[in-house]
Amino acid sequence: MKIAVGNDHPAYELKCAVKKRLEERGHEVIDAGSHNAESTDYPIYGAAVGELVASGEADLGVVMCGTGIGISIAANKTPGVRAALCWNITAARAAREHNDANVLAIGARLTASPLALDILDAWLDAGFEGGRHARRVGQISEMDARRSEGN
Ligand code: RB5
Repeated sequence: MKIAVGNDHPAYELKCAVKKRLEERGHEVIDAGSHNAESTDYPIYGAAVGELVASGEADLGVVMCGTGIGISIAANKTPGVRAALCWNITAARAAREHNDANVLAIGARLTASPLALDILDAWLDAGFEGGRHARRVGQISEMDARRSEGN
């Protein structure tokens, strides 16, 4: 799969670890930046990853900032993006199984690196369960479609 990653400065180190793990798992990584630990603004990278996923250039995305909150909000501004901020393995699995989250958000300052990589693995290994969840995710997709049409 092609997986886009994006981060701001507090999450640069975590992004490097996530990138390594994704490559070890055989994925192609599209790195939307930032490319160093200098102070920068998370909306740039949340939006970039959101666009890559929504356009289909990337199959999935992983966004990381200090808390994971700001960059997940930014990613979710793009219709078609379902970014989920996950802080443990249960949340990561549910994000995929119930919400079909196509973007995983992690807070580098709140989630230590070994756990962050376990969260990444759990999210990648889980699959969307469909059924009643498909109806609800479909309702979100309809909201996106209405917004894209300007209604
Ligand atoms: C940057 O200091 C910090 O605000 C950012 O990484 C993130 O936590 C925002 O939600």
